[in-house]
Amino acid sequence: MTRKIPAILFSIAVIVGVFSSCEKDIEPIVSTNPTTNETSGDFELCKTCPPGFELTDEGVCRLRSLYQQYASLKDQGVGGLKTALPEVRDGFTPQQIDLGRYLFFDPILSGDGTVSCSTCHSPENGLTDGLDRSIGITGDKVARSAPSLWNVAFLKLFFWDGRATTLEEQMKGPLFAHDEMGTNEHQLRETINGIPAYQKMFHEAFPERDEKTVQVDQIYAALVAFETSLISLNSRYDQYAHGFHGALTKDEIEGMNVFRSFVARCAECHTPPLFTNQQIAVLGTPEPDGRALDAGAQVPYNDASMRGGFKIPSLRNIELTAPYMHSGRFKTLRETVQFYTDGRGHAVPEGEKLYLHWHVWEPQLSDNELDRLVDFLKTLTDETFMPKRPDRLPSNPS
Ligand code: HEC
Ligand code: HEC
Repeated sequence: MTRKIPAILFSIAVIVGVFSSCEKDIEPIVSTNPTTNETSGDFELCKTCPPGFELTDEGVCRLRSLYQQYASLKDQGVGGLKTALPEVRDGFTPQQIDLGRYLFFDPILSGDGTVSCSTCHSPENGLTDGLDRSIGITGDKVARSAPSLWNVAFLKLFFWDGRATTLEEQMKGPLFAHDEMGTNEHQLRETINGIPAYQKMFHEAFPERDEKTVQVDQIYAALVAFETSLISLNSRYDQYAHGFHGALTKDEIEGMNVFRSFVARCAECHTPPLFTNQQIAVLGTPEPDGRALDAGAQVPYNDASMRGGFKIPSLRNIELTAPYMHSGRFKTLRETVQFYTDGRGHAVPEGEKLYLHWHVWEPQLSDNELDRLVDFLKTLTDETFMPKRPDRLPSNPS
């Protein structure tokens, strides 16, 4: 009986087009226009939704996931497997999503044309950069580690300190920070409008807009469309949650039970299926040697009780996004889970008073339990819907 489930999952995957990729159908043409003698690449935006989404009659993409058939958390406790996802942000057109993909990978968006969103959120590094702290256009390390972008479509708070509440607001951070992409609205608009291929693509993605020039809110909207298409909900854990018991090994199930237990309390904060309850918690994680305490959420919320507080991160694809925590202080998952059992407040600098979360305590997990937790965390890996890095960019078509 249980054997049937993966077949269902598989057929859903096929229906929603896991194996389709638009760009590969298009010949990379670099045409020389005989009348203007201008060399310009021809870019055609995708007309189908990314995998995991279904095109509606209105022409927009809606997420399809087995989790949508489950009720919300009520009565299930936080460890329940068949629980609903938070509300998703979807409803963009295939063309808007695909245009966002080109923008995301294009360094032309940065002040000096060297850094793209994908520099710090790259497909090769689980949509992060593999660094403890990211490096932008100045070549210096920024304040924090780059989070992965999987499933941001479900989030209500952005940045480690939760200082943004929408993806539009969030992206102005990296775009305009002098040490990240170092541009401004004026330069962004000028740059995009100076590239005929982009002008054409924006017109295609936003046909209802009759202005000739591309506006910055369209640039933001296309990037959001792309970001919200980054869905990871088909891991071996998910197959197990949907009823296929054979998807996890004995060790992994043991780890899952530790994770959900009242002793370890991981699921209280990293609540399935998103593996975050989207709140801010003060854990007292250590900074790298020589760096002062990061005040975290205290700053944007102007609240001393949130000193050292950070947004609870999702743990999806966590195996691929080392190093860990806001500071990138921990190199391995084993080191990261060890933190939780080394004693409440053990890493808080002397003289600091932090209001540690009540679920941070002394679970006294054994080495075996910590190893099993790591086994379990690795079952949350799923990159089947990883978008394709464009072969060519409108800013550099040849
Ligand atoms: C120089 C590296 C760098 C670049 C370039 C960059 N980011 Fe980030 N990104 C980061 C870092 C570091 C953070 C966390 C910063 C913080 O929390 O203070 C972050 C956070 C985010 C978040 C919040 C995720 C969450 O879970 O809260 C999103 C979304 C995001 N970036 C999207 C983008 C987009 C879109 C672009 C391009 C417009 C971009 N980033 C460019 C490094 C970068
Ligand atoms: C009180 C809420 C809370 C509990 C309980 C909790 N976590 Fe966390 N977890 C967080 C927060 C907040 C962070 C980010 C902290 C930081 O960056 O300083 C985090 C970070 C992590 C990370 C690193 C994520 C990344 O992207 O770098 C892992 C892995 C993790 N937790 C696993 C666990 C495990 C396993 C347990 C149970 C033993 C657990 N957590 C219990 C709140 C919690």
